[in-house]
Amino acid sequence: MKVPPCTVVILGAEGDLAHRKLMPALYHLTRDGLLPEGFTIVGVARRDQGEDRFRQAMKSAIAESNEAGPVDEEVFARFARRLFYVRGDLNDPASYRALRQRLEAREKEEPKPQGRLVYLSVPPSLYPAAVEHLSREAVAVRVRDPRATPWVRLIVEKPFGRSRETARELNRLVHEHLSEHQVFRIDHYLGKETVQNVLVFRFANSIFEPVWSRQHIDHVQITAAETVGVEHRAGYYEEAGAVRDMFQNHLLQLLTLTAMEPPSSFTADAVRDEKVKVLASIRRLREGGIDDHAVRGQYGPGTIDGRPVPGYRQEQGVAPDSQTPTLAALRLMVDNWRWQGVPFYLRSGKRMPRRVSEIAVQFRCPPHLMFARARVPELAPNLIAMRVQPDEGLSLRFEIKVPGLELALKPVDMAFSYAEAFGGAEHSAYETLLVDCMTGDATLFARRDEVEAAWAVVDPILDAWAAGPPAPFPNYAAGTWGPREAHKLFAGGAGRWREP
Ligand SMILES: NC(=O)c1ccc[n+]([C@@H]2O[C@H](COP(=O)([O-])OP(=O)(O)OC[C@H]3O[C@@H](n4cnc5c(N)ncnc54)[C@H](OP(=O)(O)O)[C@@H]3O)[C@@H](O)[C@H]2O)c1
Repeated sequence: MKVPPCTVVILGAEGDLAHRKLMPALYHLTRDGLLPEGFTIVGVARRDQGEDRFRQAMKSAIAESNEAGPVDEEVFARFARRLFYVRGDLNDPASYRALRQRLEAREKEEPKPQGRLVYLSVPPSLYPAAVEHLSREAVAVRVRDPRATPWVRLIVEKPFGRSRETARELNRLVHEHLSEHQVFRIDHYLGKETVQNVLVFRFANSIFEPVWSRQHIDHVQITAAETVGVEHRAGYYEEAGAVRDMFQNHLLQLLTLTAMEPPSSFTADAVRDEKVKVLASIRRLREGGIDDHAVRGQYGPGTIDGRPVPGYRQEQGVAPDSQTPTLAALRLMVDNWRWQGVPFYLRSGKRMPRRVSEIAVQFRCPPHLMFARARVPELAPNLIAMRVQPDEGLSLRFEIKVPGLELALKPVDMAFSYAEAFGGAEHSAYETLLVDCMTGDATLFARRDEVEAAWAVVDPILDAWAAGPPAPFPNYAAGTWGPREAHKLFAGGAGRWREP
């Protein structure tokens, strides 16, 4: 993967995302020698500071992020030489003019950059103004030919809209100024090794795909559990809640990768076409029936790792009567040939007992139990668990005979661990996705129709919850797996929520 000389502009360079993820990712890529001569980073923020202070601030941010490890002075010196700062308010067109002049001055030097990548690492309320000013002040303008150089690309962070309607509106606005091939809607989950591995696992092996359907699979469970609470992002989270924060993007992305048909090639549009088909096949939840398919929760006080923690409503910046769900659990049905009748259970929440994200595919039990029931009362179904984080890996559960004269069966796990096999993931999700964007590969980014289709899945839930009576919050204690009602989603089915 050869990164071309280019300029990365980070709007919001003093924000949380830039500090914790983007700068460490770019530093790491510098350390690994993946960024060529002529690669430049320009940070834009409101803080009144010179370039030296900005570089020092970025050094501290990198040192604090645990992804990059300790800062190496020699690597940082190389990184700092390509790091520049432009001060400006992003509501003010003059800031974009100053930025363009800075970029043009750089572009006169050799080696000439082959493109500009602008990262919108700013609050979503600023996206419309930023896109418009970037275009009007000629920082990021429309390029019609996807193969043209110099190229211009824009990374837009989540959340992309608050509903299908607002996502559509944002897409329309973005498209007034840029072509679709220039727009990279980022979902950092897709940069994780294990997430990409779902497609490799399914389509590069011949033994799994034949059983990957309603004939053999009982149900699929997708979990993204966090132990943290709302931390310092109460303002954002109060507006977003669990469904907008986790389901519209990350969990539905995991569902599409698990459920999609094999694309004809591993190209951006072929992969995304198949993902959109899955999203379009998810049965729409209808008013009146939402409660049978969707459960919301909000944590009260409890204990995490033996330490008492406050409830959501007691967190700083949260309304004392907040109706924001910190957990949601859904049962979705994919109405197509392959998945008819197979429930997909999705669950994500804050302040759960363990930090774990996984896709668990549970197979049907054998049709006939020939072992005497007295000795083998129940078989554990076969299960493939793809662990996205932490301890990235994969396990396959099957029954074995316990050694001994008596016939006894026991489920065992055959496990593959990325850390054991390869010493862990080589690059963070943001490194992977930044490199993909710089090299023009949009496979792991959401297309226009894809984000809108994902919103169409969750909109009815959000609307019903907003219009209905207040929820009996808090309804789960911090440090537990969520409200009891979430178990009702399995009514009539064979499974129950895993506690991975
Ligand atoms: N943080 C995460 O882990 C995370 C994860 C996924 C997605 N995101 C998304 O990434 C984006 C950035 O998030 P964040 O957490 O980094 O937000 P943040 O900490 O609030 O940072 C936003 C940045 O934007 C700057 N900014 C705000 N208004 C501005 C203006 N008018 N002119 C110039 N700069 C302005 C801020 O500058 P000041 O310092 O001057 O206020 C700050 O540098 C958001 O869209 C968020 O939803 C964040």
